[in-house]
Amino acid sequence: MSDDLNESEAHIAQKEPYAVEVEEGRRYVWCACGHSQNQPYCDGTHRSTSFLPLVYAAEKTGTVYFCGCKQTKNSPLCDGSHNDL
Ligand code: FES
Repeated sequence: MSDDLNESEAHIAQKEPYAVEVEEGRRYVWCACGHSQNQPYCDGTHRSTSFLPLVYAAEKTGTVYFCGCKQTKNSPLCDGSHNDL
């Protein structure tokens, strides 16, 4: 990986959300730093950054759109910010 992991801005994993089927009652740990190799989930890589992952508790079973660009103001879900990148 050539990215500097000490950056203060999140790395853009991809410029669109990840559509994921979630299950009611389950928890999902969303990657906030953008460096995880297991997007959109945390793989521990943030430990080299100033970011912390965010736990999403699914309130119902269905599709959610986890932010892939890591610029959303509605973490961990996509808020359309990727359209401005
Ligand atoms: S993917 Fe980040 S706001 Fe949509």
